[in-house]
Amino acid sequence: MTLRYLTAGETHGPQLTAIIEGLPSNLKLDFEALNFELARRQKGYGRGRRMQIEKDTAEIVGGVRHGLTTGAPVALVVANNDWTHWRNIMNIEPISGTDEEKRRVHRPRPGHADLNGGLKYNLKDLRNVLERSSARETAIRVAVGAIAKQLLGHFGIKIAGQVIRIGEIEAPPHQLPIDELISKTENSSVRVVDPETEKLMEAYIDKIKEEGDSIGGIVECIVEGVPIGLGSHVQYDRKLDGRIAQAVMSINAFKGVEIGIGFEAGRLPGSKVHDEILYSEERGYHRASNRLGGFEGGMTNGMPIVVRGVMKPIPTLYKPLQSVDIDTKEPFAAQVERSDACAVPAASVVLEHVVAWEVAKAFLEKFGGDSLEEIERNVKSYLAQLENY
Ligand SMILES: Cc1cc2nc3c(=O)[nH]c(=O)nc-3n(C[C@H](O)[C@H](O)[C@H](O)COP(=O)(O)O)c2cc1C
Repeated sequence: MTLRYLTAGETHGPQLTAIIEGLPSNLKLDFEALNFELARRQKGYGRGRRMQIEKDTAEIVGGVRHGLTTGAPVALVVANNDWTHWRNIMNIEPISGTDEEKRRVHRPRPGHADLNGGLKYNLKDLRNVLERSSARETAIRVAVGAIAKQLLGHFGIKIAGQVIRIGEIEAPPHQLPIDELISKTENSSVRVVDPETEKLMEAYIDKIKEEGDSIGGIVECIVEGVPIGLGSHVQYDRKLDGRIAQAVMSINAFKGVEIGIGFEAGRLPGSKVHDEILYSEERGYHRASNRLGGFEGGMTNGMPIVVRGVMKPIPTLYKPLQSVDIDTKEPFAAQVERSDACAVPAASVVLEHVVAWEVAKAFLEKFGGDSLEEIERNVKSYLAQLENY
């Protein structure tokens, strides 16, 4: 059984829902850790008021008993706390009332799914598009990824995320061990390790906000402790780097993805790109460097996976952009709305979780079993095979 999940739910509906299938039985879930990940997504300098209204928590409503997975599908719910204010607007029953009462949207926002979705699904109320296309959905994806993270954690695989750039401000490179990286970024309002960069980024976000604008950036995810051989070279859709790229691009507002040095590889000669192979009794096969970000041939090579994604600036601006009303076909300047000026730190948390999911999925494809114990045996025997190679 391959690991899979689906999500449902709208940004102002009662809840977001996910069903995960393919988790083994006997995985101990840490509910506090799950909710901690949801809280991490809500933090970050530059976020708007909604993040203060909503305090996300996940409720598990299937597939777990007495703290352990049973092997049945795991159902998760993240409630939308301000739904009470939207009960009528989001009612699943037909309602009467004016467009205004229904909060009908007829003015598509540039940079959003509004117009494409309205045209494609033949919807004259663009709320039916924006409610689902909203990045609120990333909350449930973080909840799903948090479970993947716990599965990986059981096998000693650690995941960290950090912000590399916000607009013009770039964080200086560092070589911190992963535990230190995790604790330092956790204490930063913009998820960087360097306090000086944090100050610069905060000031930069303030300036952008004052100008009525928004700003994007670059985020990075590092996965350490991954065994050699997740993913496969034999078929296009089994290449794990390709799957990760798809997952990263599926995060709202992400416009590009890099593995390792990524686009730099197009500028440098081969001698400065490829990672030389070394062998020692202690470490077995390993690499002299990790410029290729842990992948060759669509398979992990035992070095940390390093993935970067670029987030465009948030499209809802205080500074209005030109658009066209779908009722009148007349141009208008999009109305001023309450929105985040920068969600790059939150996006870094989302990145960690979508990457965790893809790695967990490949992990179970390689070592899959119905129970955690069966997977443990499979991992052990594979590691012995590598040792005797
Ligand atoms: C964590 C996060 C928070 C976001 N918050 C907002 C927001 O407050 N306002 C907004 O207009 N877009 C926000 N976005 C971006 C939009 O959801 C996204 O641009 C839109 O759905 C269109 O999708 P696309 O940019 O992938 O084409 C956010 C994205 C992420 C990842």
